[in-house]
Amino acid sequence: MVLQPSPRVEGGRDVAIEPVIEARNLTKRYGARVAVDDLSFEVRPGEVFGLLGPNGAGKTTTVLMLLGLTEPTSGEARVVGVDPMRDPLEVKRHVGYMPDTVGFYDGLSARENLAYTARLNRVPRSIATARITDLLTQVGLVDVAEQKVDTFSRGMRQRLGVADALLKDPSVLILDEPTASLDPEGVVDLLALIERIAQERRIAVLLSSHLLDQVQAICHRVGIFYKGRLIAEGSVRDLATEASRTEDVVEVGAQAHDGRPAGVEVITATLRGAPGVASVAPDPDAPDRVLVTGAPGIAGELSSALAAAGLRPIHLRTREERLDAIYARLVHAAAEAPVRPPRPKRSTTRSGPGARGTTPGRPGPRRARPGRAGRPRPDNHDDDPGDTAAGEPG
Ligand SMILES: Nc1ncnc2c1ncn2[C@@H]1O[C@H](COP(=O)(O)OP(=O)(O)OP(=O)(O)O)[C@@H](O)[C@H]1O
Ligand SMILES: [Mg+2]
Repeated sequence: MVLQPSPRVEGGRDVAIEPVIEARNLTKRYGARVAVDDLSFEVRPGEVFGLLGPNGAGKTTTVLMLLGLTEPTSGEARVVGVDPMRDPLEVKRHVGYMPDTVGFYDGLSARENLAYTARLNRVPRSIATARITDLLTQVGLVDVAEQKVDTFSRGMRQRLGVADALLKDPSVLILDEPTASLDPEGVVDLLALIERIAQERRIAVLLSSHLLDQVQAICHRVGIFYKGRLIAEGSVRDLATEASRTEDVVEVGAQAHDGRPAGVEVITATLRGAPGVASVAPDPDAPDRVLVTGAPGIAGELSSALAAAGLRPIHLRTREERLDAIYARLVHAAAEAPVRPPRPKRSTTRSGPGARGTTPGRPGPRRARPGRAGRPRPDNHDDDPGDTAAGEPG
């Protein structure tokens, strides 16, 4: 189930603006295992797109394909109009990337780490110095700029990771699980930072997370990903009102003719037998109201049933499903769905300059850096293009 965007404007975004991230039928297999299955989505400038899914859903694999760090089995990607497999260096020039484990030289200060990244990215020194101070200010680390990174908390490291990813003044920001293992306050701070940067710089942001609840506040759109498949896509509001919802929960309060509250017992007795009603219970949050669970769109029926009993509805509100419930429901539905037969194997053939092959499933060497703790990814290229900020695979 994929929600299609309306023709030109969706959720306030102008879909006439060219996307800067495009995934078209991206598929990645590791042997018999399908890590990413026929994935398509787009992200436009200024937009924050959340790629959401439980562990193993294929989020990191998708990110690596967008960066040209692992080759799709089929399908294609375009990032700033460039095929990441054909020209990963060009993609790197425009994309700030924060991997799931941000690595820094612990023995160097925040400023020195950023200066190192600036050199790798060939940012001229004349520009770098001011930019580093500016970024450290933006991420709230300017006061600890000379402090060694090994004294930093997890949240501080994450914020330094954002600064690091922004050093090359990118037009696209890709953040893999940026909020993982931050405390609630750290999450709010980091997300506010990302949101502000996306708005101010009109950067397209792709962030992955396994917590819809956590990141939805800043995501203009989300894609829910399960076992490699995109099972839902749209604004959070779209997802909440999406048609496959199986039941509504409606808050109901009513008055009798004399204007006095009808009382929970009377409302309950009136609504219990109404068409489509599954259950009626007192609303624990409001003493004069009940919560009615029933078929989608049941509010209209409830209104009629109250009127027929001579009651006037004074409160009738269909509750928005909690995000964690939406997420759980969509994932559950996907898990129950019949397994799709595997599609015939197609191999991508690439040749000519810039062609890069990877060996699926075979761990490749990763260039180690003293004190930099980045999670090694098996599929990384080993041809370091001189741009490996914050554990950026190179
Ligand atoms: N190099 C690899 N070789 C074989 N299988 C792999 C490789 N990389 C990923 N996979 C498999 O592909 C699937 C998707 O993994 P991926 O890391 O993309 O998931 P994820 O959504 O990022 O998960 P997490 O939330 O744990 O980070 C998993 O089943 C994983 O085991
Ligand atoms: Mg991951």
